[in-house]
Amino acid sequence: IRHLLSAGDLDAATATLVLDTAQEMASLADREVKKLPTLRGRTVVNLFYEDSTRTRISFEAAAKRLSADVINFSAKGSSVSKGESLKDTALTLQAMGADAVVIRHSASGAPHRLANWIDGTVVNAGDGTHEHPTQALLDAYTMRSRLGRLSGLNVAIVGDVLHSRVARSNVLLLHTLGAKVTLVAPPTLLPVGVDAWPAETSYHLDSVLPDADVVMMLRVQRERMDQAYFPSAREYSRRYGLDGARMRRLPEHAIVMHPGPMNRGMEITPEVADSPRSTIVEQVANGVSVRMAVLYLLLGGKV
Ligand code: CP
Repeated sequence: IRHLLSAGDLDAATATLVLDTAQEMASLADREVKKLPTLRGRTVVNLFYEDSTRTRISFEAAAKRLSADVINFSAKGSSVSKGESLKDTALTLQAMGADAVVIRHSASGAPHRLANWIDGTVVNAGDGTHEHPTQALLDAYTMRSRLGRLSGLNVAIVGDVLHSRVARSNVLLLHTLGAKVTLVAPPTLLPVGVDAWPAETSYHLDSVLPDADVVMMLRVQRERMDQAYFPSAREYSRRYGLDGARMRRLPEHAIVMHPGPMNRGMEITPEVADSPRSTIVEQVANGVSVRMAVLYLLLGGKV
């Protein structure tokens, strides 16, 4: 494959190759091999039309550790504010020699359009409410490294599924890799058509927790939300927030994940976010190894 646009593009063998390659990258870093010459002479552009902390910085770190030249483009402060289109911006970056474009955009489907316009590789770093495939890969990597396997795991994804590109990509990838996913949300925060997703659904967090190996809490995306969809913060937290008492209902081995950024006190309490069960900081660290693997395999022509 030339691009990574959707977690659904990955079959089990390819997804496992990415995770195994990421493990190699992490073990090299553990052995103080900080930089690899693999992508010397290649140029990676980070094209971000939406804000990001983790994804943008980790793609930059990943590309630099592979010795690529990195250009960071932020829509804010660029000619986008003068009305320049995504296509013209992309063609401009291509003319400057971009081999890969990592794109985050508020419009679902923007990476797919970009892939039709430019010759290089396109990596989806989050498009609207659609997908975030490298987040799903780093989440799967984290689950595998903490729990030793993915096949047969019970994964509960909890909260604002309606607006979550992380949820959709995780459902697709985890299904491919043999895990069972349950989406837990109030009815108003589940998307139309969720019945066709390869996942169970539940409105009751408390009934799902005792059998979960993984609980992945989602950020409540108030900025994408009509007030009518959302009860009150207090009511939401009471029914769907993960606090210490709920965490103690999980099996002893179970882990708690969150893609970040978190609304502490809304979907997750500080007690849970900072507990030993939480993999939130680990997920960020794993993101660099996973994104190194993605760039290495795509630009190195290994998949
Ligand atoms: N998880 C995630 O995509 O975080 P950022 O928005 O900070 O990149």
